[in-house]
Amino acid sequence: MSNETEGRRRFQTVRGTNDTLPNDQPYWDWVRAAAQSVAHRFGFKRIDTPVFEETALFVRTVGEGTDIVEKEMYTFTDRGDDMLTLRPEGTAPVCRAYIQHGMHTLPQPVRAFYITPIFRYERPQSGRLRQHNQFGIEAIGDPNPEIDAEVIHVLWSLFQELGLTNLTLHVNSIGDGECRPQFLQSLRDYYSTRLDDVCEDCHTRYEKNALRLLDCKEERCQPVIAGAPTPADSLCDDCADHFTRLRSLLELWEIPYEITPRLVRGLDYYTRTVFEVHPAIEGSQTALGAGGRYDGLIEQLGGSPTPGVGFGSGIERIIMNLREAGLTPPESLSPRTDLYIVYLGETAHGHALRLAAELRHAGVSVSLPTGSRSLRAQLRSAGAANARYALIIGDDEVSKGTAALRDLDTSEQSDVSLNAEAIGAAITA
Ligand code: HAM
Repeated sequence: MSNETEGRRRFQTVRGTNDTLPNDQPYWDWVRAAAQSVAHRFGFKRIDTPVFEETALFVRTVGEGTDIVEKEMYTFTDRGDDMLTLRPEGTAPVCRAYIQHGMHTLPQPVRAFYITPIFRYERPQSGRLRQHNQFGIEAIGDPNPEIDAEVIHVLWSLFQELGLTNLTLHVNSIGDGECRPQFLQSLRDYYSTRLDDVCEDCHTRYEKNALRLLDCKEERCQPVIAGAPTPADSLCDDCADHFTRLRSLLELWEIPYEITPRLVRGLDYYTRTVFEVHPAIEGSQTALGAGGRYDGLIEQLGGSPTPGVGFGSGIERIIMNLREAGLTPPESLSPRTDLYIVYLGETAHGHALRLAAELRHAGVSVSLPTGSRSLRAQLRSAGAANARYALIIGDDEVSKGTAALRDLDTSEQSDVSLNAEAIGAAITA
């Protein structure tokens, strides 16, 4: 590109990233408010961690052989030569904060939630972005299956609150340090005679991260996956008991679920419970939310052995599903301008500017045009601003001390005293 063309180039959002324009904000406010309200109802409190962390934090927890660490992290060296990474997921930073701030001294489990941008260099497609936003929760410090069920209940309650139906909750147990090695061995044994039938990536998975063999999306690998052993075949007694108790709690709380025996997850830290919620579309690969238990993670980060469980849920995907289902945010989330002041003449203009300041100070939202424009143009602007009322002031009105107040929904018009108190009272009546 020549310098001249480059100079005139119009910039666009980077691939896989989105602007959220003012008219889209009500959806975001709606989902964020619902997420916060559900989280609070279950006793979760907000936590915010920095957008970037030391790269090693994610390598050590998410796992060296995972797609996230191998291909998807936005990693850079800063001017002090530190290797940093834009947060590719929310769990490791919360666990880092739990250790750093000595949260093991608080009543356990510590229940925390976040609403935060996440960065992954993925192949962009519908519902798959390079910067997305996640609502996530983590409950750290309790090994009991009640907490797994509670975490799933939070996610399910959010979807219910928003009116999203027709979703399927998939659950599975992938065992723990006790029984996983035996399962991985049986999985490798099974694959060792079938390597000719699977994709290149599965060869790497076979070497580095056998559990993820079950997660391959390649067409040619599906028949092999369909016949593979499942973690359930090798669960130790404690893991099997944990899973049975989790299921009975889901039933108690009437959360419908499917056991998906080959469900595994793309991050290495999970133990025992894993789950995903999908729209009930055949073969949907875009989970609306997913998570599980991670009993070894805090220890991996240098803390004392501490269990944890949580989920993350993509807000863009939730909004996409809300739109597809024809669900719209409550009207109260699209706030209207209370009053648009229309003025004609110099004296009226001065009066309008003073009134606007006084009314805004009193909490009324006010717009008014700049410069001098015709009455028609000003009324059109009042309509475009979606104002509830228009106040029409001319120099004559100023001398009489009254103005016309027009209800822009009904077109009814009445006279009102030309002072902030009377106008405020009239439009909030
Ligand atoms: P994850 O499954 O990688 O888990 O992501 C959680 C959710 O974030 C997904 O179910 C999806 O809704 C959304 N999501 C993920 N990637 C994208 C993307 N590229 N574009 C749009 N949305 C996306 C985790 O991140 C774990 N930290 C969840 C967790 C918390 N496990 C325990 N605690």
